[in-house]
Amino acid sequence: MTRSSPIPALIPERRLRARVRAIGRAIQRDYRGRDLVLVGILKGSFIFMSDLVRSIRLPLRCDFMKVSSYGTRTQSSGRLRFDFDVSLPLRGRHVVVVEDIVDTGFTILKVLAALRGRRPASLRLCALLHKPARGRYPVTIDYLGFTIPDRFVVGYGLDHDGLHRNLPYIGAVDEGPREKSGA
Ligand code: IMP
Ligand code: MG
Repeated sequence: MTRSSPIPALIPERRLRARVRAIGRAIQRDYRGRDLVLVGILKGSFIFMSDLVRSIRLPLRCDFMKVSSYGTRTQSSGRLRFDFDVSLPLRGRHVVVVEDIVDTGFTILKVLAALRGRRPASLRLCALLHKPARGRYPVTIDYLGFTIPDRFVVGYGLDHDGLHRNLPYIGAVDEGPREKSGA
């Protein structure tokens, strides 16, 4: 995709920064004295994760898991591939999963189920963005950045066909609300 005009901002940098710091402080408050592991879901969470961990003044460990939904379109295909797994043992540890966006909820539901199988002492979800209009699977987000309308968003780690992850803010690339689809 080529673009001559800048991508319009939905969430500007300063709002992202303030919100990420607030989430960091909340996690810091909740996990003091606990054996904490943050698990970032790649690729989309890499920027959020890196800012978030720097807002948590506690001893903690970082790990990553990579999953991809098939296809490169703006609609998730409902199939998931686990590309690589966490390397730390999670048993008995307090785990917070760090995800970029919960759309239908399919991806994170599968990820949480896989991690629950490792028998952590506790398991919570931290997501930067939530699109409730598209929710199809029951997901509880324990730490949420922003609720957003049904737009396709990019930047701050999120991509469209691999592009725009490096945008320092959250922008919208579609022309407005999408049609609902069963895909
Ligand atoms: P879900 O499985 O439908 O919840 O989709 C979640 C995954 O789809 C996210 O982890 C993203 O990788 C991708 N995704 C969903 N909506 C967007 C969006 O608006 N922009 C970029 N990626 C998205
Ligand atoms: Mg993702």
